[in-house]
Amino acid sequence: MFTRRVAVVGTGYVGLTTGACLASLGHQVVCADIDTAKVERLRRGVVDILEPGLSELVAEQVTAGRLSFVVGASSAVSGFADGGDGSGQAEVVFLCLPTPMGVGGVADLRAVEAVVEETRELLAPGTVVVNKSTVPVGTAARTAELLDRADVAVVSNPEFLREGSAVHDFLNPDRIVVGCDTAEAAERVAALYARLGAPTVLTDASSSELMKYAANCFLAMKLSYVNAMAELCERVGADIGDVTEAIGYDRRIGQAFLSPGPGWGGSCLPKDTHALLQVADAADFEFRLLRATIDTNTRQRQRIVDKVRQAVTGRRTGSLTRVRLGLLGLTFKAGTDDLRDSPALAIAALLRQAGADLVGYDPALVGDPSNPDKPARTEVDGVPLVADPLEAAQGAEAVVVLTEWPVFRTLDWTAMAGVMKQPIVVDTRNLLDSATLRRAGLTGIGLGRRDTGAA
Ligand code: UGA
Repeated sequence: MFTRRVAVVGTGYVGLTTGACLASLGHQVVCADIDTAKVERLRRGVVDILEPGLSELVAEQVTAGRLSFVVGASSAVSGFADGGDGSGQAEVVFLCLPTPMGVGGVADLRAVEAVVEETRELLAPGTVVVNKSTVPVGTAARTAELLDRADVAVVSNPEFLREGSAVHDFLNPDRIVVGCDTAEAAERVAALYARLGAPTVLTDASSSELMKYAANCFLAMKLSYVNAMAELCERVGADIGDVTEAIGYDRRIGQAFLSPGPGWGGSCLPKDTHALLQVADAADFEFRLLRATIDTNTRQRQRIVDKVRQAVTGRRTGSLTRVRLGLLGLTFKAGTDDLRDSPALAIAALLRQAGADLVGYDPALVGDPSNPDKPARTEVDGVPLVADPLEAAQGAEAVVVLTEWPVFRTLDWTAMAGVMKQPIVVDTRNLLDSATLRRAGLTGIGLGRRDTGAA
C-alpha cells in the first residue's frame, strides 16, 4: 500500500480529523499541538470536541500504531521512526491552524507564520508543506517566501468538512482540491487521497485558496436568500417549506442547505464572508452581493427578536423587560458543542439587551458524567444553563428553539406547556411538528410557515 509520513500541525476540528482520517487511509501520521495538556489528553484517547466517530477513529489509529501525538510542530516534523530510507522526517506537513478574523476582517496568519518560522530549518529536502486552513489568496506564496526554501513546495489543499460530520465528510468528499504552482508537489498531495476516489481538481495555489472562500460564501448566500424568502413567504401567505422543496428538485439548485434559521454562524461562514469582502475591497471590487448576504444575516437576528417580542406581547413595540424566556439550543448548529459565532448566542444577547430574563438548555452543554474533562456548563455568555428542557420552560412566557437538535422534536410538549406561563413556542429552525404543538395546547411560530402563522 502507498503510504507517506505525514505531520499534522494543529489538532482542532480540521487537524485532528485530517490526522485520524489520513492514518485510516494507511499513512503514518504524527499530530502536533502547542497545548501540552491537550496532547496529554489525546494520548490517553480523550477527544475534547464532540464529533461523531472521531474519538473511536483516533483510538483505533493510535492502537494500530499509525497515529501519535506530540507537543510542538518541530517534534512532529522530525518525529517519525526511520521509514527505512534513513529518514525520520515528515514527507508532507499539513498546517491546520486557526486563522481567526483579525483587524478589519482580515484573516490573522500569526499561527501559520510562527510554525513556518519554527520548522523552516528542519524540513527535509523535497518536503511538501500543505495549507489546509482557509487562508487569504496569496498565503501559499507568502508561506513559500517565509520558508525561503527552494527545495520545499507549498501547496493549498482546502478542507470542506462540516462540524458534526467531519469524519464522514473527510472520507466521502465531493471533491479534492490541490493548488500548487509545482505540478509534482500537487500530484504528491493528491495521491494521499487516491483511495477515496473523489474528483480531483489540480490548480494553481491562488485559485485553490479563492475557491474555498467562493464555496463558503456561496453557501452563506444561499442561506441568506432562503431566510429572506421565508420572510417574504410570511408577507404573502406562502410556505417556505413547500417553496424550498420545489426549488430543491431543480438539480441546479439542490435540496441541501435550504433550511431557514436564526442566521448562519459557526467558525467558518462568518469569518470567510468577511475575509472575502476584504479581499474584494483590497482588489477595488465592490462585491455588493456578498455585502447584502452578510447584512441579511445580521438583520435575521433582530428579526427573530422582533418575532419573539410580537409573539409574547402581541405588539411590535411591546416590552420584553423581565419577560422570562426559555432558550432551547445555544450551539451554532446541532451535532456540535461549538459555540463560536453562534446565532443563538447573538440572539440571546439581543434579548437580554431588550430586558428579557433568559434560561438556556443545550444537550451538548450538560456535561458527560463518564468524562471528567467534560463538566456541565452552568452559564454561557451570561445566560444561566439548566440540565433539563422542562426547567428552561418553567414560568417562561415563550420557549425559543434556536438550534435544530432532533431531540427537541420528541420532547414532552404537553409537560412543557404545563409549566409555562404563556403557551408560546418560537421555532427559529422550523423543527417542530405544528400538530404536536397544537395538541399540547401550544402556539408554534416558525419562519415563513403557513401552518404556524407568522408573528
Ligand atoms: C462550513 C461548510 O459547510 C463546510 O463545507 C466547510 O468546510 C466549513 O464551513 C469550513 O470552512 O471549515 P460548518 O461551519 O461546520 O461548515 O457548518 P455548516 O453545516 O455549513 O453550517 C453553517 C451555518 O449555517 C450554521 O449556523 C447552520 O445552522 C446554518 N445552516 C446550515 C442553516 O441555517 N440552514 C441550512 O440549511 C444549513
